[in-house]
Amino acid sequence: MATSEPSAVAAGQHTVGREVVVEVKALQKYFGRNHVLKGVDLQVHKGEVIVLIGPSGSGKSTFLRCLNFLEDPTTGEISIGGVRVVCGSHGGQFKKDVHQIRMKCGMVFQEFNLFPHKDATENVTEGPMLVKGEKKSDAVEKAHELLTKVGLADRMDFFPSQLSGGQKQRVAIARAMAMDPVLMLFDEPTSALDPELIGEVLKVMKDLAAQGMTMIVVSHEMGFSRDVADRVVYMDDGYFIEQGPPSEVFFHPQDDRTRRFLRHILPEKEPQHAKELGIVEVGQELPDPDAAPLQGPAGAALNEDNLADTAIPEIPLSGGPSGELPLPPGNEEL
Ligand SMILES: Nc1ncnc2c1ncn2[C@@H]1O[C@H](COP(=O)(O)OP(=O)(O)OP(=O)(O)O)[C@@H](O)[C@H]1O
Ligand SMILES: [Mg+2]
Repeated sequence: MATSEPSAVAAGQHTVGREVVVEVKALQKYFGRNHVLKGVDLQVHKGEVIVLIGPSGSGKSTFLRCLNFLEDPTTGEISIGGVRVVCGSHGGQFKKDVHQIRMKCGMVFQEFNLFPHKDATENVTEGPMLVKGEKKSDAVEKAHELLTKVGLADRMDFFPSQLSGGQKQRVAIARAMAMDPVLMLFDEPTSALDPELIGEVLKVMKDLAAQGMTMIVVSHEMGFSRDVADRVVYMDDGYFIEQGPPSEVFFHPQDDRTRRFLRHILPEKEPQHAKELGIVEVGQELPDPDAAPLQGPAGAALNEDNLADTAIPEIPLSGGPSGELPLPPGNEEL
């Protein structure tokens, strides 16, 4: 895979490598006549954490699902970990390449999708044994390591029904990691969780990011994005509208649609952050010009100029699970 300079906008906590792990070009997806992805491009470097935000129905899940071919993209090009696929092709080589790409992606869904009749260890060993042909003893050893890493050393033989939502999601993360992915995809991994369980899952994701995992995360956990994302991408109506480090996208959004979305979402998701920006309620015309900037001199607070357009339509956030597969994450070969 060609290398290129690290993204100039990468500003997160991580070392972002020169290697390009993901290259998406002009990706389009139709469901029948519904044009859902309208030509999106994205380049992700090794170790980079991308957070994708946007209103319900804008195509975030479809984008993730196209990346690992859980959905068939209509046209465009996807390269992951050195394997390049021209979407819409057919034939043996195409199928082989798609399989390779699936093997390189771990995916974590909102609804966990664990095997209910297998315990935590078996959930984690299933993929490596069946798909990669790993020996049981090796797979179990790796599963135990991963489950320990996600804080479940004392739950290795528990079944999903005996685990909390946060624990189930951590098993799902361990399971995805067991396939040694070069890229982790997270589709609203905390939105089905009780609020008190969200932190434990975000912490595991933060740890993964700190260890250099390349990640694309659909999430409206703004605190997480602010702390962990190298780049936030705002998606609307099948397009990537704007992107940049969280300090730019959250504090200096350039596009009206991003501004409207943030004014909608911040009071709900990050009341303290919103308050500091002078936004207390959705639609409120109250940006406080004296509000202390959160980012120091480089990042002035949102103000009347950049938030002038505040006639906000109701922008629905996720309305719940968006068609997760009954099959395990990123691996319908199982
Ligand atoms: N399997 C499918 N078949 C037909 N249409 C689909 C399918 N999956 C998604 N869509 C359509 O694609 C559009 C984008 O859906 P998608 O789930 O990607 O949005 P999203 O941004 O993830 O929304 P949310 O925040 O609610 O999860 C919607 O119009 C949806 O109805
Ligand atoms: Mg979705």
